[in-house]
Amino acid sequence: MSRVYNFSAGPSALPEEVLNQAREEMLEWRDSGMSVMEMSHRGKFFSIIADELEQDLRELMAVPENYKVLFLQGGATAQFSMIPQNLLRGKTKACYVNTGAWSEKAIKDAGNYCEAVLSASSEDTRFTTIPDVAGWRVDPDAAYLHYTSNETIHGVEFQSIPDSKGLTLVSDMSSNILSRPVDIGKFGLIYAGTQKNMGPAGVTVVIVRDDLIGHAPKSVPQVFNYADQAKNGSMLNTPATYNWYLVGLVLKWLKAQGGVAAIEQRNIAKSRLLYDLVDKSSLYRNPVEVPYRSRMNVPFILVDDALDKPFLAAAEANGLFELKGHRSVGGMRASIYNAMPEAGVKALCEFMAEFERTH
Ligand SMILES: Cc1ncc(COP(=O)(O)O)c(C=O)c1O
Repeated sequence: MSRVYNFSAGPSALPEEVLNQAREEMLEWRDSGMSVMEMSHRGKFFSIIADELEQDLRELMAVPENYKVLFLQGGATAQFSMIPQNLLRGKTKACYVNTGAWSEKAIKDAGNYCEAVLSASSEDTRFTTIPDVAGWRVDPDAAYLHYTSNETIHGVEFQSIPDSKGLTLVSDMSSNILSRPVDIGKFGLIYAGTQKNMGPAGVTVVIVRDDLIGHAPKSVPQVFNYADQAKNGSMLNTPATYNWYLVGLVLKWLKAQGGVAAIEQRNIAKSRLLYDLVDKSSLYRNPVEVPYRSRMNVPFILVDDALDKPFLAAAEANGLFELKGHRSVGGMRASIYNAMPEAGVKALCEFMAEFERTH
């Protein structure tokens, strides 16, 4: 077996230690006599997995006591609708900042439930920057202010938490959760699909302040109602049990790495290697304004796009996979989430330098 370096934007590379542990525990988890996949979600064994999962996430992210941690289904995409359904609390407007493709999707779905007020947009720059927070136009009557902390496709990332301007702050952290410390107390709600920094696809983490839930209209189905899910420990219906277990293993791996502050240092070092190479090169180019470049998703183009196909073919021949950029923007993208070792980024940089030399 020879495992490649996988730069996929998600589902993405998992820590090898996690995959090995899952293999070892495939037939029997601890002394349960059964595989995690076979356990009742309400049984005593799975309860241990569920409790440890929540405790580990609370510890890693320093989640305050007055926040609920939910593990839901439907991906981050379901949250685009669940957030307005649950958080409008009688209001008719919500503010959104548009920094790229994922913000746009959130805005589109919110429009089915309320007036989605566009507070700021970087569309005129082709999403290569983040609009200056001082100029964001928020409506004081809006129920919340939503932004996407890392745009997975455009490679644009907020480097700090923006001023909420008096509104309840909501953020889609799908592609940078657990990559850097975040003060949860500044948010009303954050959410993230697990398939980038937390495990396989199939679980969506929602962390929401207590006082914001319990106000959804009766027409909201219980499975989409945060308060109902919280009351039922995210087990209002059968949860994705094996995925919860795998997310739990990733969290334990992250704790063993020294936690979020330690992994942030590695993420800074990894992304610097790649951006330095791109900036020094005359073949590769990254269009994003330097202060807003993502540590997680590094898009780049080859100045001669006739070289795209040879680049991808040669990369695969060197064990470097999934570097093709998103179909909507083209070019290349290297996603270097927590589980990507520095050796993988170094191997990519060496390959890119050699490709430039020979082309
Ligand atoms: C920032 C961001 N938000 C939302 C989504 C949608 O997630 P899902 O496919 O889990 O619904 C993605 C998926 O890549 C994403 O990167």
